[in-house]
Amino acid sequence: MSRRPLIAVNWKMHLSLSEAAALAEAISLSVATAACETVIAPPFTSISVVAEALRGSSVMLGAQNCCWAEQGAFTGEISPLMLKELGCSMVIVGHSERRQLFHEDNRMVNRRLQGAMAAGLVPVLCIGETLEQRQTDQTTAVLKEQLLECLSAVSVTDPSRLIIAYEPVWAIGTGQTASSQQAQDAHSFIRGILADMFEKTIATEIRILYGGSVKSDNVSALMAQADIDGALVGGAGLHIDSFAGIIHLV
Ligand code: PGA
Repeated sequence: MSRRPLIAVNWKMHLSLSEAAALAEAISLSVATAACETVIAPPFTSISVVAEALRGSSVMLGAQNCCWAEQGAFTGEISPLMLKELGCSMVIVGHSERRQLFHEDNRMVNRRLQGAMAAGLVPVLCIGETLEQRQTDQTTAVLKEQLLECLSAVSVTDPSRLIIAYEPVWAIGTGQTASSQQAQDAHSFIRGILADMFEKTIATEIRILYGGSVKSDNVSALMAQADIDGALVGGAGLHIDSFAGIIHLV
């Protein structure tokens, strides 16, 4: 059993086309000497230029969301098949910004995740508690509910086909990272729920990333934890120096 470390970067709604191409190229050069797998999730409009910049590189291409349907009258949405056609192999679903700002609930995340899987994309399912939920001791209940609902009717026989990202909402973009112990406790709890939902051997092999203010000065302590298999990076992935600092420590 081995869970190869994965660093995923979510560019959110940042970077012009030329900035995206330049950063993707710099990342692909930097990754050549790194031990981890890397995936870039640019805004939809930059996916093509990033794909071009990554040609021949080991860096994978991802997206930040996808529709559940393959095609149809879904104004403003992007089909998982369209993402496949552009060369994406992964897609983030259920990011807390989608949940909080665009009111996506677990049921919708479940549909998006199933659509992604049906198209052969690997979903990176984001879950995590708010500060208020943590302060009122609801963290494990929230994580369990998110997993059960977002993975409802999903069967996983190949552990490489699903990735979970634990992202405490209070740590995203705030500079306030969960301590390595807080993150490990959450990851180990998540793996336990996955073991109840799928076979134990599958749960042991599914990668669980940590996300929320990951930087070069905290990534090593996080990655040293038994159940942390990588990171979902936001802000620190927008500059080559900060991002290279992370991938070379993993
Ligand atoms: P951050 O974002 O690294 O800027 O906190 C992480 C995320 O939203 O995935």
